[in-house]
Order: sequence, then structure tokens, then C-alpha cells
Amino acid sequence: MIKLIIDTDPGIDDAMAIFYAAAAPEISLLGLTTIFGNVTTAIATRNALRLLEAADLDVPVAQGAKAPLRLPPFKPSAQVHGEEGFGNIPAMQPKGAPIEEEAADFLIRMAREHKGELVLCPIGPLTNIALAIQRDPEFVKNVRRIVIMGGSLEEGGNITPHAEANIYHDPHAADVVFGSGAEVVMVGLDVTHRILCTKADFASIAALSPEMGGMLQTMSEFYLNFYETVGKFDGCSLHDPAAVIACSHPELFNTKNLPIRVSCSGETSGQTLEAGIGSRAAVSVCLGVDSQAVKSLFMKRLALLP
Ligand code: RIB
Ligand code: CA
Repeated sequence: MIKLIIDTDPGIDDAMAIFYAAAAPEISLLGLTTIFGNVTTAIATRNALRLLEAADLDVPVAQGAKAPLRLPPFKPSAQVHGEEGFGNIPAMQPKGAPIEEEAADFLIRMAREHKGELVLCPIGPLTNIALAIQRDPEFVKNVRRIVIMGGSLEEGGNITPHAEANIYHDPHAADVVFGSGAEVVMVGLDVTHRILCTKADFASIAALSPEMGGMLQTMSEFYLNFYETVGKFDGCSLHDPAAVIACSHPELFNTKNLPIRVSCSGETSGQTLEAGIGSRAAVSVCLGVDSQAVKSLFMKRLALLP
């Protein structure tokens, strides 16, 4: 059983990832921490609570940082995930509320209480993870692994020609995490651009899972329309679900151990680059994936949901 906390900016593919975690028998989801990115942190928190209620999961949500480590706060663009983060689905107030503890302190405490067992899966900007690393010198040792949806080594960017969105939104935080010496796995665009779901795929999920699959199908319409405007892909990338699947099924990914640094200024800001050998601890960079196996795991598991 994998003890998992997902740090998230829900977000349509975040919703897919969280529902996947709810359906995966080998994952014990201990909580969610929220961050800005696709939406503001406040909306991310509301959406995280709503997803857990839809999944009937009673686990804590800890609200995270409202702005990047050093960059000024920014207004999320609604073009990819919609104003409220779930495409055209209107905002709805969840029944629950986040815990008092802020995200970075929650992560520190949980890593300490589950020493050597807790896997973190950040699928948004890395601000909360960087704050936890900076606040607790033991955090890097306490946490078992950090499996990041983010970055791109050879694939180029998606929010700029050079940068993937999660890294771009807080490059300083990402550089702290990649240079921390923690056991880090980078699930970047090099692999997530190869794992695509189409309108027909979401329709077949919804046919078997009318409630939660139906919710994802509704959200995916907005997401697929955006991908159509990009005109590069037949479907939408399963960015965040791929990172969660890499937590439980690492054998489906081919990795290379490389030190990674992050450009933090100029037009390449947010780009993840190979650092000089020996300049910092290496991380496992995913450069290959059995995309069919990841996609069928995703669809098979979601079909089990109500
Ligand atoms: O670049 C894709 C990533 O940015 C995904 O995590 C998506 O949800 C957005 O956060
Ligand atoms: Ca995300």
C-alpha cells in the first residue's frame, strides 16, 4: 500500500488524478494540499474539497501558499481549465472546510509521522514542497519519494516554448526541490504528451461510471476543446494521472538519472535543464513510457467508480 499525499491545483487533469487515486487499490490517499496554478489557491481548495466529497473520501485538505516563492502573484488564465477550474461546471460550495494547518506544515508533520513511507505527488507548482524543505531540515530524509508532474527535458514547453506550466509558475520553488537531494521522479511532458484520452474514451468511462466518470466527461469537453485549438494532439494529455500512476507503477516508465536545474529568469524561465554532473543530486527523469498500459490502467480503474 502506498501512503500518498497529492499537492494539487484542481484543474481538470488534477480531478482525473484524484479520482484515479480514489479508485486505485494500492494507494492510500492521506490528504490533499492545494496550490495556485490552474486556479487561485482558494478555488483550488474549494475544488479539492468538492472532489473528495464526490469520491466519498474523508481525508484532510490543507490550503497552501497563495503566491510563488519570489515571483509576484499572478492571475490564472481560464483558457485551459475554465474560470472555476472544472471547465464549464459552475462553482459549488463544498460541505467541508480545509484544516487549520497550512499545507507546508501539514506535509512536514505527515512526513515525520510516516517517516520513510510518505510519497508526495505534486501536480501543480512546487511552492508548498519548497517551503516544507526550507522549514524542516529533516523533511527531505523523512519523505520517501517526491513524484512530480512537471518539467520537460527534450519535449519543449507548453506554457512557453521552453517551460512546462507547473515549473513556470514557480521556477524558484522547482529549483529548490530538484536541488534538495530528496528522491525525486520527474514525470514531464517528455512522457505525458504521449498519454492521450479522446472524447470517446471519456464517454466510455462515463458509461461505466455515471457519477464520477460523468463529472470527468463533462469537464473534459472544455479541456479537449482547448487541446483542439493547440492542434498538436488527438485528445488531451493525462498529465496529472500519469504522475499518480508513476507512484504505484514505476515499471511503466523508463527513467534516466540526471541532475536537473531550473532557469529562473528571462525568456527561458521555468525551463528544466540538465545540470552539470556532480553539481547537485540526480533525479529520475522519465524519458519513456508504456503509454498504452498507463492509459488502460487509468480507464480500467476509473470505470470501477460509481
Ligand atoms: O503542464 C501540465 C500541468 O499544469 C498539469 O498539472 C496541469 O494540471 C497544470 O497544472
Ligand atoms: Ca495540475
